[in-house]
Amino acid sequence: MKFFVDTADVAAIAELNETGMVDGVTTNPSLIKKSGRDILEVTREICSIVSGPVSAEVTATDAETMVAEGRKLVEIAGNIAVKVPLTWDGLKACKVLSAEGHMVNVTLCFSANQALLAAKAGATFISPFIGRLDDINLDGMELIQDIRTIYDNYGFETQILAASIRTANHIVDCARIGADVITAPPAVIKAMVTHPLTDKGLEVFLADIKSAGIKIV
Ligand code: E4P
Repeated sequence: MKFFVDTADVAAIAELNETGMVDGVTTNPSLIKKSGRDILEVTREICSIVSGPVSAEVTATDAETMVAEGRKLVEIAGNIAVKVPLTWDGLKACKVLSAEGHMVNVTLCFSANQALLAAKAGATFISPFIGRLDDINLDGMELIQDIRTIYDNYGFETQILAASIRTANHIVDCARIGADVITAPPAVIKAMVTHPLTDKGLEVFLADIKSAGIKIV
């Protein structure tokens, strides 16, 4: 399973990257706004840190302008994935950009039918939003399972990029289902390491190290 980091915070990306946990990055207009930086400048900096796919989202709503924006975004670096919304125009832009050999991430997916359309339009990644479905009392994980089944039924190569991840449990559930990629905020990825028995066990070991005077270097 690949781990993408869902942020435009360069320092947080660099820190996680040191552990070898970063296979890619996803950004969106809200994350760019939060960074307070110019989209082209911050995306370029992220691409200089991470070698895997870095998703950068178009701002237009018509296919022609989305394609123009996508062509500009891919000039930033060879690892840009153009992010387009799951609208009819987004699908048209996806078709054009993927035919030109660019990676395309179709975002804001909330149904299996939408995911089916994105695969047929040649998307590299489909981004189903788990947390936002859970927020309205629907089952985000059920959507991941449905897309996995449908893509496997027909051998679609579009990768399931599980997005809008809010908890470490979302990540392990995605892994059980077989999502290809998860994208999560740095804090959620870091939360995966925590277990109270690890903390308790380490506390005892540290006490024994101290009382026995155990030393290695
Ligand atoms: C994915 O590409 C999106 O940027 C992101 O996962 C959205 O998450 P949110 O619903 O927590 O804003």
